[in-house]
Amino acid sequence: MASEEVTLLECNQTKKNALTPLRKCQLLTFLCLLPLVLLNVWLKAFSWDSNEQIDSNEQNQVTILMWHEPFRPPTLWTSFMNGDHNCSPSCKIVRRRSLFPTADVVVFHNRELITGQEKLPMDLPRPPGQRWVWMSLESPVHNGDLRKFAGIFNLTMNYRRDADISIPYGERLAKKPEEGENPVQTNTGNKSILACWVVSNYASSYRRSKVHKELSAIVPVKVYGRWTNIPLTSAELIPTISHCYFYLAFENSEAKDYITEKLWKNAYQSGAVPVVLGAPVQDYEAVAPPHSFIHVDEFASVKELAVYLQQVAGDQKLYSEYFQWKRNWKTKLTADWNERLCKICSHFDSLPPNKVYADLAAWDHATGAA
Ligand SMILES: *[C@@H]1O[C@H](CO)[C@@H](O)[C@H](O)[C@H]1NC(C)=O
Ligand SMILES: *[C@@H]1O[C@H](CO)[C@@H](O)[C@H](O)[C@H]1NC(C)=O
Repeated sequence: MASEEVTLLECNQTKKNALTPLRKCQLLTFLCLLPLVLLNVWLKAFSWDSNEQIDSNEQNQVTILMWHEPFRPPTLWTSFMNGDHNCSPSCKIVRRRSLFPTADVVVFHNRELITGQEKLPMDLPRPPGQRWVWMSLESPVHNGDLRKFAGIFNLTMNYRRDADISIPYGERLAKKPEEGENPVQTNTGNKSILACWVVSNYASSYRRSKVHKELSAIVPVKVYGRWTNIPLTSAELIPTISHCYFYLAFENSEAKDYITEKLWKNAYQSGAVPVVLGAPVQDYEAVAPPHSFIHVDEFASVKELAVYLQQVAGDQKLYSEYFQWKRNWKTKLTADWNERLCKICSHFDSLPPNKVYADLAAWDHATGAA
């Protein structure tokens, strides 16, 4: 870090002082980064060796190849940073494309495929028995035109419950007896705002925007995020929301099972009762802790919802009922891509043996029950 700052300083001076060429600045940058690159090459070589050993020891180890990193440009740096990951002694994630011929499963993240940043390796001979996984955490309207992927993928990996490998943004977990029935804290002493909303992409056409508009005309709603120019840093987010009785966990799409970190992180981690809009009520009921949320569709009108929110916030007993689930349940936010990819390992033996998504676009747009 310190060396980078020095380099930047030099760069600035370069601009003022015509005698020092830009070249010098580039050389300095190069010299500062070189040890880092060498260290990574060395580490990489080291982990390569240890993995070759595992390979020869564990012939049955399932190999899952992540073809490209989600939401990351394909830089040398990211390929160094993201190494192998052992999910279990019998299953591992790898990120070296040279392992394609022996990989049991190859995972493709949809976003980079539809932007054209990455391509499917259609030119490589596809080993018999190898499964290709289509992975996306976006709602159907943001997945692009999937018709071009007809007949290519064997498995789907998605937040939907009926995906072959279901990777929800979060989940409820039953508490173990030793985790106890802690006294349930509702922390209303801290709360001063009726409802909060964090929004960066405001489009008046979204249903959530209409609901917000109507709701905020009746009850106070504090809005944070880029739209209102009150951005919250990730460190500020949860403490800020914890001052609200309710959190508007409104999704940008109303799609089957599409329930994001707006519920699992923003609402549950802050201790604000989520008011949800997006997937149907029964989708929330299937995955969220019982009596832990209020769904907009449960009310005949936004006015009725507003009246209910005021009533609950003003009644300690009614409000605390929305926290009773904490006696028996806890919630978990999915941490990272490795955790998601490791779900392939835990489901490996029950994955459909022979499957082809002849019409992936139709699957993605399906709205039927799971
Ligand atoms: C009040 O909120 C803060 C977070 O802003 C939290 O750390 C603290 O425990 C809360 N206290 C009470 C009494 O609820
Ligand atoms: C995977 O899909 C390919 C291409 O559609 C197909 O040829 C292959 O038989 C499928 N493999 C499995 C294991 O389902």
